[in-house]
Amino acid sequence: GPLEEMSLPLFFGWFLLSSVQDKVRCTSMDFLKTLDTLEVFKKHLSDFTGKAEKEVDLEQYFQAKGTLHCTTKFCDYGKAPGAKEYAQNTTVKEFYGSAFELSLSALFVTPRTVGARVSLTEEQLLLWPADPEEEAGSTSLPRGSRAHITLGCAEHVEPVQTGLDLLEIETLQQEHQQGEPIEEMELGSLTYYGEGRWLLTLREPICTPACFSSFYG
Ligand code: A2P
Repeated sequence: GPLEEMSLPLFFGWFLLSSVQDKVRCTSMDFLKTLDTLEVFKKHLSDFTGKAEKEVDLEQYFQAKGTLHCTTKFCDYGKAPGAKEYAQNTTVKEFYGSAFELSLSALFVTPRTVGARVSLTEEQLLLWPADPEEEAGSTSLPRGSRAHITLGCAEHVEPVQTGLDLLEIETLQQEHQQGEPIEEMELGSLTYYGEGRWLLTLREPICTPACFSSFYG
């Protein structure tokens, strides 16, 4: 019945403290603002607009999506495969409500999403489900490759897209398609992977406290 369905959340994940959410949002806004002004970005603007001459304001282009978090397991109230098993996992139960420190090691932008890559520790990987990378068809990437925080989505784009965009960039990296190194920015080094895919590897990863919990919606 409906009550039984409600016993599992929409998703489990690490939720950033609200004070650091603002900091992460600011960093991401700064990045978008700077990217927007680069000549090399303007050169590839048609990836975003479909028309070379049109302008795009990246800060307007992406819409924020709720509280900042890194999804571990999308349960869809129990409808997603493996949801029940994940919720009953002893490590998940043990760490539920615990504080962690997440390391954000890169920011990325595509015509669909903007996000932060999360580099998980061995301990954090214990909370990572078995198969989110394979589910997305990326069988050869290491576990945890999909870990990310959605910072914004273009119109009509669902947040699930952010992890898929990250996996796409990481697959290109793994295939030794090094991307086009663009320039050193204050925050780190910027690389272009074609088709509007930009990756900023942060010089100093952003460390942020986050609580492992779940969201019912
Ligand atoms: P993400 O983790 O990239 O932000 P929604 O609001 O669309 O129901 O999504 C709720 C959260 O669950 C979002 O954080 C979203 O993406 C994540 N999510 C939605 N669908 C999936 C899915 N199929 N697989 C993994 N994560 C998902």
